[in-house]
Amino acid sequence: MTRANPVWLDLREFANGAPLNEATCALVVDLDDPMLAPFTALAPTARDLDDMAGPLAGPRRYFLARRALLRSFVAMRLKCRAGEVVIGHDGNGAPRVLAPGPSVFASVTARGSIAGMAVADTPVGIDIEPHDSTQEPVWTVLHPAERAFIETQWREHRDAARFIETWAAKEAYLKAIGLGLKRDPATIAARFDGAGGFSIEDDAEPGTAQSGVHGDIMIGGRSVCRAVIALEP
Ligand SMILES: CC(C)(COP(=O)(O)OP(=O)(O)OC[C@H]1O[C@@H](n2cnc3c(N)ncnc32)[C@H](O)[C@@H]1OP(=O)(O)O)[C@@H](O)C(=O)NCCC(=O)NCCS
Repeated sequence: MTRANPVWLDLREFANGAPLNEATCALVVDLDDPMLAPFTALAPTARDLDDMAGPLAGPRRYFLARRALLRSFVAMRLKCRAGEVVIGHDGNGAPRVLAPGPSVFASVTARGSIAGMAVADTPVGIDIEPHDSTQEPVWTVLHPAERAFIETQWREHRDAARFIETWAAKEAYLKAIGLGLKRDPATIAARFDGAGGFSIEDDAEPGTAQSGVHGDIMIGGRSVCRAVIALEP
């Protein structure tokens, strides 16, 4: 049986306590939005304070806010109090829900004040990539099947939008499998269906494909590409 597509939550519905009943729920927010205050004001855990010193943590207030929001998000899914939720990281850096029970999977992504998170009943990955880069695509991360279209768009129009979408979809998948950049991104290929869906073909899993959803939103004054994928069991 094919799984239902992940569902993007609306911030207002989330803030009003809408139940997170779908198999995969994802949220992309501007952490400066005052509607999030009840969810981001949790006291930091000892682990949060430790991790905040890490090289990739970014600005303190956003780091602590997104860690708190993730605990609140998982708590809403599990219908428990945020204080009961403990999130750790495995040896590859992937977040793992440790309490109140390993019954849900979570993923997180951030760029400054913009944060994305997903909860699902199977391993899940989320990524956001701002569209404001005029940088040349990073050709080495592309699968041979992805190159032709992206090369043409870049050569003829200096347009990196498809590269950004491709990278968001691939990074979401690399997070869902829990390996991040320990896997060579050039060995997986994203394909887009033109209707908000994408599939990932992984050279390590020939003959199978995993599917996710992507799209652009305006948030925090920026156009951001978001992608989320939950693995078929
Ligand atoms: C996953 C990865 C591609 C994300 O990079 P990024 O674009 O800089 O960051 P994003 O904001 O999109 O995502 C950051 C989140 O990815 C998550 N993450 C990190 N490694 C992950 C992994 N292997 N699998 C799934 N998720 C991972 C973390 O939850 C992190 O947020 P947090 O530290 O606040 O919990 C990158 O960090 C990576 O490949 N890490 C694994 C390899 C590595 O060097 N690990 C260090 C050993 S701990």
